[in-house]
Amino acid sequence: MEDLLSRADLRTLWLLGHPVRHSLSPLIQNAALRHLNQAIIYQAADVSVEAFETAVHGLVALGALGANVTVPHKEAAFRICHQRTPRAEAIGACNVLHFSQGRILGDNTDGSGWWRGLTDLLGRTVPEKAVVVGAGGAARAVVYALARNEVPEIVVLNRTVERAEALVREFLPYALTRCYVRPLESFPAQLSSDCLVVQTTSAGLDGDSPLPLPNHWPPGAVLSELIYGKETPLGRAVKGLGGTVQDGLAMLVYQAAESLALWLGRPLEEIPAELMMEVARQKTSA
Ligand code: ATR
Repeated sequence: MEDLLSRADLRTLWLLGHPVRHSLSPLIQNAALRHLNQAIIYQAADVSVEAFETAVHGLVALGALGANVTVPHKEAAFRICHQRTPRAEAIGACNVLHFSQGRILGDNTDGSGWWRGLTDLLGRTVPEKAVVVGAGGAARAVVYALARNEVPEIVVLNRTVERAEALVREFLPYALTRCYVRPLESFPAQLSSDCLVVQTTSAGLDGDSPLPLPNHWPPGAVLSELIYGKETPLGRAVKGLGGTVQDGLAMLVYQAAESLALWLGRPLEEIPAELMMEVARQKTSA
């Protein structure tokens, strides 16, 4: 890294978010860039909502290669693009921007990254039913991945039911999937053997649970949470009932690996995802 910083021919990649201070993205992306022997560095910038557009145009002007975008800028990133991939169009948000010849291409690797992490856990088995908690941007990426991978039944639970209904309406064109909305309070009643529960809200980090905690966890049911580094009340309850819980670390790593493949124009198999996972695990267990 020292050697790289003294060079004048570096390209740059960025993480734009607010806040970004505790992000693992610089660690995992720079580990991969070093491994691939690239003259590129990845940095995080804390950017306000008001400054987001100016910041992106500034990066384009500086000749940056691209950026990851995180909370709360993913919808703004979607709007700023000249061109978007079909999956970014379907999700309505971008977590990756690629700058090329003054143009901004937007993609979304959250859903596919999350699904790849889940596949590490479940193998090729596709669950019969998924219960998605939340209806924000993260939930949209998850529902997109579930529908793409033909999970037959998707139930969306959200505090604001209208928001869940709007999400489901948009994903109805995926006719292979039955997708419907239930109130948050019905959570324990939605659980069934071998079902997949995906907790997409950030609620619960403060110790409060956004939904009624189950006192029974069906055999084979799995909880996937998108947050990492901190146990939620739901995660703790499910573990206490003997259930399997996956946090959001695999999703973070795999969305990062796919972002890097896009920026470098390389096939995903050439990106050292295992190394990225290893450094992320070391850091979170330290
Ligand atoms: P993201 O892009 O991370 O999904 P978001 O679009 O702000 O963020 O969505 C946040 C999600 O968490 C929403 O589903 C939100 O529910 P509402 O649509 O009712 O706002 C949910 N959420 C946030 N805080 C919550 C809380 N305390 N209890 C229940 N749900 C909560």
